[in-house]
Amino acid sequence: MTSTAARELTDPLAQRSLEVLQAGQAPSGALIASPAFDVYRYAWLRDGAFCAHALDVAGANDAARRWHDWVLTSIEAHRQLIASATEIAHAGQAPPAAMPPARYTLDGRLETPDEEDPWPNFQLDGYGMWLWALEQHLAGDTLPPSYEPAVELVAAYLSAAWPLRCFNCWEELDGGIHASTLASAYAGLCAAARLLGDERWSAAAESVRAFLLTHLVRDGRFRRGPDDERLDGSLLWLGVPFGVVPPDHPALRATVDAVRRDLTGPDGGVYRYRGDTYYGGGEWLLLTSSLGWHDATVGNGEGFERAQAWVRAQALPNGDLPEQVTRHAQEPAMVEPWQRRWGTIATPLLWSHAMYLIAEAAR
Ligand code: BGC
Repeated sequence: MTSTAARELTDPLAQRSLEVLQAGQAPSGALIASPAFDVYRYAWLRDGAFCAHALDVAGANDAARRWHDWVLTSIEAHRQLIASATEIAHAGQAPPAAMPPARYTLDGRLETPDEEDPWPNFQLDGYGMWLWALEQHLAGDTLPPSYEPAVELVAAYLSAAWPLRCFNCWEELDGGIHASTLASAYAGLCAAARLLGDERWSAAAESVRAFLLTHLVRDGRFRRGPDDERLDGSLLWLGVPFGVVPPDHPALRATVDAVRRDLTGPDGGVYRYRGDTYYGGGEWLLLTSSLGWHDATVGNGEGFERAQAWVRAQALPNGDLPEQVTRHAQEPAMVEPWQRRWGTIATPLLWSHAMYLIAEAAR
C-alpha cells in the first residue's frame, strides 16, 4: 500500500490514536489488545486486523506491514494445527478442543492454557479479518509470493470451518452461528479469491453469503444468529467493511436504523447487544465509531459527526480511549464484580483507537 492512500489526520485524538497503536506494537510486529489490562496482553487477529487497517489509513504502512509479517510467521508456525482443523471440519466432525487460536502471544505462540479459566479460542472471524486487512494493505498490489501458502491455508480453513459452531467476536458461544463471524469469513474468502486468483474461494464466499441472506435475515433485517433474534452492534460490519451487501441494501439499512434506535444509549454510544453484562454492558467506543464509519460511507455527515463526537468525549485527559463506558450500563450491578475480577476497564484499547482513526479517514 502506498502512503498516498493515507489521509491527513489532523485532530488531536487521531494523532494520539496513531501514537497508541504504534506504542502497542511489539518488536515482533504483534499488536497488543491493551497494554494496561492483564487479560488483554495478547495479540488477537480480530483487534489486530482493524488496528493494521487503521495504521494503513493513517499512513503508517510500514507498521501495518510488520503486523502482517507477524501474522504470516505465526500462522506458518501453526500450519499443522490449521491444516488438521481444516481436515476435521471437512469431515463434518465436531471441532476438537484445540482449534487455531483467536489470540497469540506477542511472539506468535499459543498461550499456556489456564486450566481454571480457559479462553474460548475457537473463533473463526479473526482469520477472515486478517485476509480482509491484508488485501486492504496491499491496495491493488500483487500478493508477495511468500504469503501465498498462508493465504491459501487460511482460505481453506475458512471454507471448511464456517458452518461449525464457534465463539463470536465477543468471545461468547450463544447459538454458535453468528452473522458477524460469517460476514468476516465471507470478506476473507473474497479477499483470498482475488489475491490468489482462485475461484474456489469465491465460490465458498458465495455459499457463506447465501447462508447469511437465507438464515440471518428476518422481518427485513439482519439478526445475531439463526435462533437469536437480537440485534448486535457487530451487524454494522455486514455492510462496512465486509460488504456482504452494499450499505444501501434494504436489510442493511433496516439493521442500521434498528441499531441507531434500539442499541444506542441515551448519550449516543452503541451497546454490543441487549442483555450484555460484561462490565455491566456499557456503550462501546469501537462500535460507535463503526456506526460513524458506516455514516461517513453513505454520506450521512450528521450521523458521522455525532458518533465521533461521542467517542471524543470519552477520551481520558491524555487522549486514551477505553473499551467501553459504563455511565449508562445496562446492568450497573455487574460493573463492580468485573472490576474485582479483571481490574479497571481496558484503557487504552487499541481497537477503540483504530476504529476512531478509520472512521475519521472515511469522512
Ligand atoms: C472482546 C473481543 C476482543 C477482546 C480483546 C473482548 O472482551 O469481546 O471482541 O477481541 O476483548 O480486545
